[in-house]
Amino acid sequence: MMRSSEPGTIYEAMGGAEAVRRLVEAFYPKVQQNELLAPLFPEDIEPVMEKQYMFLSQFFGGPSLYSDAFGHPMMRARHMPFPITPERANAWLGCMREALEQEVEDPELRKVILERLKGPAYHFVNQP
Ligand code: HEM
Repeated sequence: MMRSSEPGTIYEAMGGAEAVRRLVEAFYPKVQQNELLAPLFPEDIEPVMEKQYMFLSQFFGGPSLYSDAFGHPMMRARHMPFPITPERANAWLGCMREALEQEVEDPELRKVILERLKGPAYHFVNQP
């Protein structure tokens, strides 16, 4: 039998594709309401949501949807066109914390997920 993801991953613990989809759908409306983040994003947020769904699926240990479609993620490089300050990284993580509180029941799992995202978020900071 083919597996599209391994047991013991964040992806599996969350509840797979549908759970990642719900998280992304809870997250971007918060980004669009955030005064530090909103100006960076296009009005049509759907394509960004789709890419984030594909990326987080693989980042959480599920199927490699993003790399299959777009090649190596190079996420820091892809964020270079946007001025990302430490305050914006914190705002991004704050929106994610709220989305997790809404969509993921288990507080331990929420903590694990947020910790996994902190590394990349601060790594993408490219402005003082
Ligand atoms: C640190 C704060 C962050 C800011 C301010 C930020 C902002 C942005 C912006 C402005 C875009 C481009 C939207 C467009 O297409 O016009 C983007 C794309 C994206 N971001 Fe972030 N981001 C942050 C952190 C993260 C993190 C932590 C992740 C995942 C671990 C992430 C994953 C993505 C993905 C997958 C895309 C789509 C890339 C593509 O175009 O293929 N971002 N982000």
